[in-house]
Amino acid sequence: MTERLEVMISADQIGTRVRELGAEITRAYDGRPLVLVCVLKGSFVFAADLARAIDLPVRIDFLGTRSYGSGSETSGVVQITQDLSRPIEGEHILLVEDIVDTGLTVVHLIDLLKTRGPASVRVCALLHKPARARVPVAIDYLGFTIEDRFVVGYGMDVAERHRNLPYIGVVHPG
Ligand code: IMP
Ligand code: MG
Repeated sequence: MTERLEVMISADQIGTRVRELGAEITRAYDGRPLVLVCVLKGSFVFAADLARAIDLPVRIDFLGTRSYGSGSETSGVVQITQDLSRPIEGEHILLVEDIVDTGLTVVHLIDLLKTRGPASVRVCALLHKPARARVPVAIDYLGFTIEDRFVVGYGMDVAERHRNLPYIGVVHPG
């Protein structure tokens, strides 16, 4: 296999930005307890680093999702494969996403969480690809805006591969 990986965002750049996001979130919530909802699987690395950059009473929960449809294109119909472990009524929720692409997944998840009576729902996404947006999404805390390339690493995969790369890269088939 001769595929080549090109670094788009280095581990150092990610680390710096995640610490900045953590500080911004810490200031914004001003001591209030926060529930980080990590959207599996792609957000597990980002959520782990972000949680340690936030200086607030934090609870972590996980939402397993799968988008129907084929290949790397979402259909926007999000199947919940694993629900939150506890109710979120009255709590401040921060949805932690690896990447907002068409925006369909995040919009669906916000609607779902809001039916459960949280005090607030905000979104923190590491990456945003505005070129592919199909619905408007208000991203409250954003790491990086990127061009329209399919990226892997730092939790993100192509066919379940490359999630363990410490950087964000682009795969060039050999
Ligand atoms: P959306 O519903 O189109 O915004 O897509 C959301 C999900 O698709 C993300 O949470 C990712 O899991 C996946 N996704 C979108 N673009 C990429 C990419 O470039 N690399 C890896 N996964 C992606
Ligand atoms: Mg995802």
